[in-house]
Amino acid sequence: ARHLLGIEQLAPDEIRSVLDLADSYVDLNRRTMKQSDALAGMTQINMFFENSTRTQSSFELAGKRLGADVMNMAVAQSSVKKGETLLDTAMTLNAMHPDLLVVRHPASGAVNLLASKVNCAVLNAGDGRHEHPTQALLDALTIRRAKGRIQRLTVAICGDIAHSRVARSNLILLGKMENRVRLIAPPTLMPPGVGEFGCELYDDMKKGLEGADVVMMLRLQKERMDGAFIPSEREYYHRFGLDADKLAFAREDAIVMHPGPMNRGVEIDGTLADDINRSVIQDQVEMGVAVRMACMDLLARNLRAERGRAAVGVMV
Ligand code: CP
Repeated sequence: ARHLLGIEQLAPDEIRSVLDLADSYVDLNRRTMKQSDALAGMTQINMFFENSTRTQSSFELAGKRLGADVMNMAVAQSSVKKGETLLDTAMTLNAMHPDLLVVRHPASGAVNLLASKVNCAVLNAGDGRHEHPTQALLDALTIRRAKGRIQRLTVAICGDIAHSRVARSNLILLGKMENRVRLIAPPTLMPPGVGEFGCELYDDMKKGLEGADVVMMLRLQKERMDGAFIPSEREYYHRFGLDADKLAFAREDAIVMHPGPMNRGVEIDGTLADDINRSVIQDQVEMGVAVRMACMDLLARNLRAERGRAAVGVMV
C-alpha cells in the first residue's frame, strides 16, 4: 500500500509484518532502539492540526532514527491561522516533494481526503473519531510482548468509546486478530451500532472485566462532547474509573493499558497507573517509537519500489 490511513485497510498478515519489524527495532535490553538508514535521503513532514505529545514526538524520533530529514510544521504559526485550507496547505507542502506526510486532524476522514491529493506516502496520526492506526499497532505490540500472543485474548476497552478513535482502531485490529473484545461504557458514551463489530457490550465494569486478560482504559474526551452529556468526574470515577477493587474482577495477570494523556482520578487511579506490576502504560509509549519506525520503513520500501517501476516505465 502507498498510505497508512487505518487498520480497516490492513490484512492480519500485514499487521503481523508491522509488529515483527517493530520488534526487530527494539533492542534486547528494550531501552535503546537499533539505528538504521531505511529512510536516508527521504523527507518526512509532520503536520499536526491537533495537540499531541506522544504521537508527534515518537514520529519525529522514529524518522530521525531511520535517517530521514524530519520537519515539524508549526501549525499554530502557519498560514492555517490566516485561513488557508487543509488541502491548500497540503498541496503547498507537496510541492516541496516530501516522501512521508504524517497528519493529525480533528475532522474524521480529513487524512483520507488529503492522501488522495498528494503524491507521497501519508500516515494517519489520528483523524477525529475515525482512526488512530499507529496507536492500535503499538497497543498490539505491547500486548504481544506482555502476553506472548495477540490472538485468543479477552480485551476489555473501557470508558469514552463514543469519542475515541483509539477504541475504534483497536476494536478493528483485535477483531481481525481473533480476540474477544468487550466494550464497557455508560450508555451515553457507547456509540450506536458498535455491536456490529462483533464485540460484547457492558455498562457495568465488574461484569465486563470478569476474566479479562487486558484492560484498556480511555480518556474522557470532554473536548469532543458538545455539552449534551458531560458526566460529573466524581460519579464517573466511582462507576467507570479503574482502581484495584475493580481490577480484581479481571484475571490475576491482567495488564492495564491507557493510550494517554491520562486523567488521573477520572478514568484511572494514579497509583494503579504507576504500578509497574500491572500497568504497561510506559511500555506503550516505548513501543510507539518502534511501531512508527516499522510503519515508515515499510511505506518507504513500497514508495521506492513504486518509483522504481515508474522509472522503468519511462525508460521503456
Ligand atoms: N495517545 C496519543 O495519541 O497521545 P498524544 O495525543 O499525546 O499524541
